[in-house]
Amino acid sequence: MSFSKDFVWGAAASSYQIEGAANEDGKGLSVWDVFCQKEGAIWSGQSGDIACDHCHRYKEDVALMREIGLCAYRLSISWPRVIPQGTGAVNPKGLEFYDRLTDELLAARIAPYVTLFHWDYPNELYGRGGWLNQDSPDWFAEYTRVVVEKLSDRVKYWMTLNEPQCFIVLGHQHGMHAPGEKLPFAEVLRAGHNALLAHGRAVQAIRAYSNTECKVGLAPVGLVHMPATDSPNDVEAARQAMFAITHKSCWNNTWWADPALSARYPEDGWKLFGSDVPAIRDSDMKTICQPLDFYGVNIYFGQTSHAGKDGQPESVPLPAGHAMTAFRLPVTPEALYWGPRFLWERYKLPIIITENGMSDIDWVSRDGKVHDPQRIDFLNRYLLQLQKASRDGVDISGYFQWSILDNFEWAEGYKERFGLVYVDYPTQKRVLKDSAYWYKEVIASNGAILDKS
Ligand code: GCO
Repeated sequence: MSFSKDFVWGAAASSYQIEGAANEDGKGLSVWDVFCQKEGAIWSGQSGDIACDHCHRYKEDVALMREIGLCAYRLSISWPRVIPQGTGAVNPKGLEFYDRLTDELLAARIAPYVTLFHWDYPNELYGRGGWLNQDSPDWFAEYTRVVVEKLSDRVKYWMTLNEPQCFIVLGHQHGMHAPGEKLPFAEVLRAGHNALLAHGRAVQAIRAYSNTECKVGLAPVGLVHMPATDSPNDVEAARQAMFAITHKSCWNNTWWADPALSARYPEDGWKLFGSDVPAIRDSDMKTICQPLDFYGVNIYFGQTSHAGKDGQPESVPLPAGHAMTAFRLPVTPEALYWGPRFLWERYKLPIIITENGMSDIDWVSRDGKVHDPQRIDFLNRYLLQLQKASRDGVDISGYFQWSILDNFEWAEGYKERFGLVYVDYPTQKRVLKDSAYWYKEVIASNGAILDKS
């Protein structure tokens, strides 16, 4: 059996990473527009000022999605493009862009899956405290209402936040991402709590203002632990490791998913974080924990665990020379079996892989094509594992390849190429990579052509 007959095959991108037009048509500044100006923040001093020029080339890009045969496209909306100051006056030209993009997608029979926040926070609101400001959930709910009122007659699938682990930990604790803060842990947790409140308020707004039936989820990082063997002890050890908080950091699964899905922060986190946990009102957890329709999750790799002495999880290091992508991330296809399985068993929501893919050293060969056999092999292996999870009863309803286009990879600039479509940035010429043609066959066969050898 292949994937379910209504399985959704898609590809993903995000506003700041592809749109460009950073200072056009009334768009306000985002924290990424400002962060990219900071000396040394971004590889080679690059920015998303132009990126893939998607704001001007979206029709061409949707035509490429149609050529690949995507069922769906996961996009994000730039908050400061829609509400330049983050709150208050709406920018009609900003909303109009997403209105036109939605119509273009639907005309190509591609379902838009919309992420409301993929890190490009309004710089004006950052100046008023950003996620640390207790009004930030209100601001996010207002922005959500504006977008949902405009698009929900055509958009049915929504994600509130992309990877809160990244924009809170990398952006507010380690300073590696915008806004580049290195805050005390207590403030990091307070910003995270407000982000979770914003998630809950946004779900309420989507359900209140949507003009049609809608499906709502979150899109966190999936930090996967895989068992070293299929032995019950190792499987249980990996499951425990995946849902444990073992050190003073919110770079984990449960500090985010448990409040959103079970209305409580995990006990082990409470114990470890102690007095750094912000004051939490009872009503907060009720706001955060809103009914969701799917567990969206971004999975690229996993780490291996086994049952050590007395059965406690122990990490098993990768052997020297283990396969890695150009981004130096390990190739671990089993992450797309165990991650969905463990998450589904814990939260009992249909799983959507909202991101999976790899960065490769792609270039245009002398024959004018972009040959990326590594990406095809990578995707084939990962999708076989996802198919196995589906066969084993895990409810998996969709898969979004990261990414449709080569794009701005945050602090790494343009040196990482994740796209199914190669982008020559000086000319903005697009070239479908071999993997795009391969993915087209995977979609057309609903996974039947995956090479099982
Ligand atoms: C993430 C972000 C994407 C990245 C992609 C490649 O998961 O970090 O959602 O914006 O570009 O994952 O790293």
